[in-house]
Amino acid sequence: MVGEIKIENASKYFNNPDGSILTALNDVNLTVRSGSFISLIGPSGCGKTTLLRAIAGLNLVDEGTIYIDQEPITKPGHDRGFAFQQANLYPWLSIEKNISFGLKARRIYQSKKEDVAKYIEMVGLKGFENAYPHQLSGGMNQRASLARALVGHPKVLLLDEPLGALDAFTRMNMQDEILRIWKEHEMTMIMVTHDVDEAVYLSDQVVIMTPRPAKIEQVIDIELGRPRARGSNDFLKYRTKILEILNFAGENKEPEYYL
Ligand SMILES: Nc1ncnc2c1ncn2[C@@H]1O[C@H](COP(=O)(O)OP(=O)(O)OP(=O)(O)O)[C@@H](O)[C@H]1O
Ligand SMILES: [Mg+2]
Repeated sequence: MVGEIKIENASKYFNNPDGSILTALNDVNLTVRSGSFISLIGPSGCGKTTLLRAIAGLNLVDEGTIYIDQEPITKPGHDRGFAFQQANLYPWLSIEKNISFGLKARRIYQSKKEDVAKYIEMVGLKGFENAYPHQLSGGMNQRASLARALVGHPKVLLLDEPLGALDAFTRMNMQDEILRIWKEHEMTMIMVTHDVDEAVYLSDQVVIMTPRPAKIEQVIDIELGRPRARGSNDFLKYRTKILEILNFAGENKEPEYYL
């Protein structure tokens, strides 16, 4: 079964250095249908990474509950893959060893060796298997991080701006690869992006978050078939609608938005 994520009344607080409390998530409610592709979009610092980390079980919410297939999430698990905003590769391991690390930990590397090679090729890193992260560009490390998240075939893939460090052309190619993998492997995709076009191109639903304390402002259903034409009138209508919501979201109308 493909993962369904249900977020119920989730709030998360952090301590500021001055001792005050920072509300990173404020009563967030969202259901991500099994096998769907959603994008989270919203201003910097509004809690997107915090929400992904909570779904991953890397930090738990202080109030409310997040469920995967009706089970409360209390810790990380192989059913959820995570491609981090900063690639977060192990600097002392080669690219191949970084990508296969999780498979080795689960003792399934021998049977999945070919998958590792397949994903390395898919993200355009063939020939760099034995390179170390510091020898690669930011975009290459980000692609390695994506391959590492994909190779375990999780039920839910959490992508935190996975394509942010890529040039425009590589980025569009990777968007198509992500769609292909999503269809082929039937996963639920939850992706953070600052790129409205990327969100409309990829997603079944675009979830727009407000400036801190993060709440969900609106969920937009993207009712377009695939593949999508980036220049079509319908595409541009969704793009304009989302940009309008972002500009007028919440009380904080100053351009605290980094798109
Ligand atoms: N471990 C932490 N300790 C204290 N504060 C934190 C911690 N993690 C996040 N925060 C704060 O929570 C808020 C939300 O952070 P988060 O990283 O979720 O934002 P974001 O929406 O992912 O932003 P960006 O688009 O810039 O990546 C920020 O104000 C941040 O400073
Ligand atoms: Mg973030």
